[in-house]
Amino acid sequence: MAEPRPFHWEYVPQPVPKEAFSVVGGTPLHGTVPVAGAKNAALKLFAAATLTGERCRFTNVPEIEDVRVMAETLRDLGVVVDHPAPNTYEVAAGDVDWLFVPLEAAAKMRASFMLLGPLLARFGEVIISNPGGDRIGRRPVDLHVDAMRALGADIEYRYGYYYAKAPGRLRATEVRFPFVSVMGTENAMLAATLADGHTVIRPAAQEPEIDDLIAFLCKMGADVERTYPDTIEIVGKRRLRGAEHDVVPDRIEAGTFAIAAAMTGGKVTLERARCDHLDSLVEILGRMGIAVDCGTDRLTVDATAVGPGSYKPIDIETAPYPGLATDLQPPTSVLLTQANGRSTVHEAIFEDRLEWMTELRRMGATIDLPDPHHAVIEGPAKLVGADVEISDLRAGASLILAALAARGTSLIHGGHHVRRGYENIERKFLDLGARIERLQEGDPSTPA
Ligand code: UD1
Repeated sequence: MAEPRPFHWEYVPQPVPKEAFSVVGGTPLHGTVPVAGAKNAALKLFAAATLTGERCRFTNVPEIEDVRVMAETLRDLGVVVDHPAPNTYEVAAGDVDWLFVPLEAAAKMRASFMLLGPLLARFGEVIISNPGGDRIGRRPVDLHVDAMRALGADIEYRYGYYYAKAPGRLRATEVRFPFVSVMGTENAMLAATLADGHTVIRPAAQEPEIDDLIAFLCKMGADVERTYPDTIEIVGKRRLRGAEHDVVPDRIEAGTFAIAAAMTGGKVTLERARCDHLDSLVEILGRMGIAVDCGTDRLTVDATAVGPGSYKPIDIETAPYPGLATDLQPPTSVLLTQANGRSTVHEAIFEDRLEWMTELRRMGATIDLPDPHHAVIEGPAKLVGADVEISDLRAGASLILAALAARGTSLIHGGHHVRRGYENIERKFLDLGARIERLQEGDPSTPA
């Protein structure tokens, strides 16, 4: 065991290097862009790798800030995380000497809480901070904690930390969620792979990233199966082994770029996009009159015939998969500003996920927010460049989309939020013909 380091009971936020994007709008995007591996898969795959002492290898890992934070968090526990080549990571959790996930990690990224299930299942204890993540609502973790308790863990909450213990093995059970939770499902599933007996999780979330995680767990020797669309069954094993996995493409990044093509009246092909994971967005684009061509591992959006300002207005509602992803609500809402008429947005998953629209209004959009879950968008808006502030990851990417379509120059502050989840976003937009630059905040002339 390495010498334990002192607890950080008092969290002192570290200064984050601030970034901004400068965007000159009005250029239709054209070309081909490769889709990166999915953030929401990679983070859970890294957590799953702690279920074994053997080395796990991941390819197609997105080079994003959240992955870097997860790698650092694991290294702090004593896990070896190597980065032998771009987009390739190896995780070896043979020696874990510090079963403590501090607020420093949790404040940066909610997905740090994904370490609860695997560390508890393998080592029988963990102290883990209540997580932060995007500012898009309360986002409690009660479902995760209840699932661990159902699996036999003893969990106390003190001073912002969960103290979880499971001497011996976790015990399999039926984990019944009151409603669908993506990471709740994943945490319960990871814990159950090493529990004693047969666990049933219901209702289990159906996101493609969860099936990617199931595929990896099976390669590790786990017995995990989605037996019905909303049911996952696991027979616990005593040990799991190392495995290799290629991360599933990011459907949220693909959707963001698909909408960028439509916003600017361009034509963009997304390489490695999984159309079958984007059914609800493809259907929405179709209803708006935007041409989408779906292949097995590529998707083309051609908005040159209709063009922004002339799309059909529609009503959208977010829902757990296979419904419209809440992470695609902000970019889709931006696109609705280019419909000819009144559209409505119902954000059904999170309660604070429409606030960013006040920034979109500053760019000329006409939006009414009657309550925290609903927006009414009157289109078409003639967007104009403005100084706006990003408050979270997906809203940030969406303000970039608005700026790409706007007349004039926008300065989008808070660009570092976007780096949490989009690999090299400005490079990808530049390759499509956009005029975009990343700047260090405080010195708008210095490229980041
Ligand atoms: C994951 C995704 C996030 C996405 C979200 C919904 C990752 C890293 N993040 O977040 O990008 O927006 O799914 O698709 O994969 N809830 C509770 N108690 C809990 C857990 C959740 O009340 O213990 C509530 C949440 O506040 C929310 C709803 O359940 O209203 C669904 O959230 P959930 O599916 O758990 O989202 P995350 O897994 O946190």
